[in-house]
Amino acid sequence: MVLLNRLERERSLSEAEYRTLIDSACPSLAEAAAEKARRVRHEHYGHTVFVRGLIEVSNICKNDCYYCGIRKSNAACERYRLDAEDILACCEEGYTLGFRTFVMQGGEDGFFTDERLCELVRRIKARFPDCAVTLSMGERSEESYRRLFEAGADRYLLRHETAESEHYARLHPPELTLTNRMRCLADLRRIGFQTGCGFMVGSPFQTTAALAKDLKFIEQFQPDMCGIGPFIPHKDTPFAAFAAGTLEMTCFLLSLVRLICPTVLLPSTTALGTIDPNGREKGILAGANVVMPNLSPLSVRKKYMLYDGKIATGDESAQSLAQLKQRMASIGYEITVDRGDVKKG
Ligand code: 5AD
Repeated sequence: MVLLNRLERERSLSEAEYRTLIDSACPSLAEAAAEKARRVRHEHYGHTVFVRGLIEVSNICKNDCYYCGIRKSNAACERYRLDAEDILACCEEGYTLGFRTFVMQGGEDGFFTDERLCELVRRIKARFPDCAVTLSMGERSEESYRRLFEAGADRYLLRHETAESEHYARLHPPELTLTNRMRCLADLRRIGFQTGCGFMVGSPFQTTAALAKDLKFIEQFQPDMCGIGPFIPHKDTPFAAFAAGTLEMTCFLLSLVRLICPTVLLPSTTALGTIDPNGREKGILAGANVVMPNLSPLSVRKKYMLYDGKIATGDESAQSLAQLKQRMASIGYEITVDRGDVKKG
């Protein structure tokens, strides 16, 4: 409680103190953290929830991350790629529904060269000038990120996954390194993107020390956005037999991140909604202020399976925005039609 109070006041703890705080997690401490996190969130964003239309543009990926259902070695994964017309149609539908941010997320698919991706960004921005475009397309060169920014992309999401390099090496094949991940994030920030990092909760081999490093990294990097969701095993990956992360720990960490970065755009993730039917509401009540409903065509949604059980019924979808609005209203929050840019104080 002493540490939590200090975190609230100073927005900073030592790595050892973060470790102690995480190790002391219990329902009463989590509720105290959530209360503080909500207070901070209300100060900056009131009771509004920003929505992002998520378009899963491709599940083709050259990487082989051990946790991920669309890793290249998963032969059971049926691959697809949306074309520009499909993607623009998703945006069109999303715009009508009230979305003012489109997030294009995909595997590291070589088809999306700078030329193609820049052209796509330009077309979306020309057609929807009042909307923000967020990219979540993995690791690229600095030059590539610069071209995408110049084409009009506003934001970039690239979770760091874990801030501990030994842990990073147990989640990824050797060609993927924490150093390069961090290089990407630094490039994105310097270029001018609203930049998002983030990590999975309860990923295999994760220790409290690793989570403490995640929090310290977030404190130092001061991301504009931060994606935090539970690890959920996928049956066709090397991590099939591991347990999922818990709702409680995910919500506790959401609250801590809100206290560390008061104005951060913090989604209550689809994964949280997957492990608990009221997960998304619980994330909002822990201090999150963003939800990202799926705008991908129904036909491909089942194929973008990062983890087992990922909701793809239509229930999670942007089309049932009305239901989402109701769910948020039931806990006292309101979805707004807004780009939802980060507040810089
Ligand atoms: N469980 C939870 N999250 C996952 N991701 C990938 N695989 C899984 C999984 N099995 C997350 C990663 C990635 C984001 C797009 O999805 O953190 O950055």
